[in-house]
Amino acid sequence: MPLRMKVLGFGAVASLVLLAACNMVSDGSKDASATAPSSAHSLLVDGNDGDDWPAYGGLYNEQHFSALGQINTGNVSQLGLAWSADLPATSNPMTAPIEVDGVIYLSYGYSVVHAFDAVTGALLWRHDPHAPEASGVRLKNGWGIRGIAYWDGAVFTGTQDGRLIALDALTGKKLWSQQTLEPGSSAYITGAPRVFNGKVIIGFGGADVGANRGYVSAYDAKTGDLAWRFYTVPGNPAKGFENDAMAKAARTWTGEWWRGGGGGTVWNAITYDPELDRIYLGTGNGNPWNQKARSPGGGDNLFLCSIIALDAKTGRYLWHYQTNPAETWDYNSSMDMTLADLKIDGQPRKVILHAPKNGFLYVIDRADGRLISAEPIVPNINWATHIDLATGRPAAIDAARYPGGRAEVYPSILGAHNWPAQSFNPQLGLIFIPTLDMPISYDDRGLEPAAWRASVVGRRDPAVRLGPADMSKAQGAGLLAWDPVKKRRVWYNPSPGMMSPATLATAGGLVFQGRLDGHLAAYRATDGAELWRFDALNAVAAQPISYAVGGKQYVAVVAGFGGAAGGMNAQFGWDYRQQLRRLLVFQLGGTGSLSGKRPSPVRPLATPHLDIDPAAAARGGTLFNSACNVCHGPGAVAGGSAPDLRAASSPTDAQVFRRIVRDGTLVPAGMPQFGELSETEVEDLRHYIRSRAQM
Ligand code: HEC
Repeated sequence: MPLRMKVLGFGAVASLVLLAACNMVSDGSKDASATAPSSAHSLLVDGNDGDDWPAYGGLYNEQHFSALGQINTGNVSQLGLAWSADLPATSNPMTAPIEVDGVIYLSYGYSVVHAFDAVTGALLWRHDPHAPEASGVRLKNGWGIRGIAYWDGAVFTGTQDGRLIALDALTGKKLWSQQTLEPGSSAYITGAPRVFNGKVIIGFGGADVGANRGYVSAYDAKTGDLAWRFYTVPGNPAKGFENDAMAKAARTWTGEWWRGGGGGTVWNAITYDPELDRIYLGTGNGNPWNQKARSPGGGDNLFLCSIIALDAKTGRYLWHYQTNPAETWDYNSSMDMTLADLKIDGQPRKVILHAPKNGFLYVIDRADGRLISAEPIVPNINWATHIDLATGRPAAIDAARYPGGRAEVYPSILGAHNWPAQSFNPQLGLIFIPTLDMPISYDDRGLEPAAWRASVVGRRDPAVRLGPADMSKAQGAGLLAWDPVKKRRVWYNPSPGMMSPATLATAGGLVFQGRLDGHLAAYRATDGAELWRFDALNAVAAQPISYAVGGKQYVAVVAGFGGAAGGMNAQFGWDYRQQLRRLLVFQLGGTGSLSGKRPSPVRPLATPHLDIDPAAAARGGTLFNSACNVCHGPGAVAGGSAPDLRAASSPTDAQVFRRIVRDGTLVPAGMPQFGELSETEVEDLRHYIRSRAQM
């Protein structure tokens, strides 16, 4: 099949440039073993010339790039709302839709799958897998799902409790469901599944909250049968290793690392390479973060913080590239791996573009995993001076490893780049990366890392304390446009708040990105000039997508905020109950409008009848800021992920409060059960919340 690129209304010049520059032109014929490519496969190669957005990253290549140019730099000022759909309250609404054949599929919150008519917004069907009820302790981490996959008439979603579910795309009827996690596991799924050649592949997160050992599982898309599984870190040597790669990896670990699971979970990025028939995995941090506890004698700890290339048919290990040997900061390589063809020193190279948490942008040769370049993309990095191109290893700075117990380190655990999607415009050769420049302090003094044991209740226990650090040099959040060939910054736009949201690049010469101050914006790709902005009446952090139906181009995004980032950005005042989460769809000349209002300050409820016991409130504060803050915000100042408890009536009544917290009466609504807490602890929490309401 020849590459056909339809650049709607944007003119032949752009089409030609695109033809020359677009990289994913394979029809499978370069792969000797491939039979005739199925239509399901070609959909993921070219998205019906850009009309469809069939996968989390747009296409197989994860460029988050739309080949449509009908909406462009010349007319984006006329972009308006075509339709919107209100979505229920949930702790983490930051998810990306897909679009196939005029239908938008959205896995939302705790994986409630919706199908909408992409033109009219009519809800076609909805499937609720009741993940909160099935999640048990896993609900305490409150992430929700970030994406959905499509293959040959079926859509696929993961759930917080570890299921991978296939639904009929036409009716929403369940086709099959598989539990992908081992019994008793505290891990959970938050990332989008990916599909390739009739298989669905899924990982999971949870290396921070229990003895979890990372792996991915590939299932037959039709039957749900397990095709293969690949572990990312070695298990207990006494049980034997699954393969040579694990035996080799085990030589880079010390002590009894398997007791803590090791970590290395694949919680976000997986990229399929149709030209080489390979899967690339981006692996996560170690469990626990502190290497002194995890692998006391040191070692690289393979394959943490790595890109691992696997043979897509068998799941066999091919190569790896580790971005952070001996990780000890919750750094990971779970961020996008974008495939591109670049001309480097006059030579065409098939590369992976990868900006992990650690602050560098890596350009890696897909054929053999060799490093081509690694450039800093944020101003402050103090764990390494540079990456040695000859060895591919970082020139590490030992002081960052908190050898004396404490260190201030750039980037922070949030990463210079995290899950918010980067996008790549192959016409311009530019990559757009949401960045965050900030430090954090690590402190393990008095913790006796060697005595660490994995937490059993699914609570965060990284064997190191985090604390504030000197922010005076920190640049904060922003959107970086970068030329990976010339290795230089092209432009940079600061983002409001401490998170730069996910991006979409288009052949219309635009970059779309949400803003935590409640807008979706479009920037000119060449210089970052803001050309359009829409008031979404809620923070927009999820990834926008673009598609065309009946010759008309649309842009879609979910507005709404949450996760741990909510509490960190409470200054915007987004409220769980006041501001609606919505699927917003835009078209040129759209005239739709939204009801609702911008936030007003939270009004804490007074409780004159309650005598607050300062000692109980102090104990409750410690507990709250380890067990409740991820959703209700640090210091009980929420930022949209859950109700602001200072203004809620339930903490004014001891019985109601206890039923909610200990008995789990609100589990179906996403409020976890904390059955392990004693009566006193629950009262301590209540005194803390009420004390916060007095301030
Ligand atoms: C995973 C996210 C999450 C965590 C962690 C969490 N909550 Fe909640 N909580 C929620 C959500 C979501 C709701 C709203 C449920 C609803 O819509 O009724 C809620 C509601 C509540 C309510 C009722 C508020 C009202 O409007 O009356 C109380 C009380 C509460 N939580 C207390 C706690 C306490 C105490 C902790 C820590 C021990 C905690 N929560 C941890 C998500 C969370």
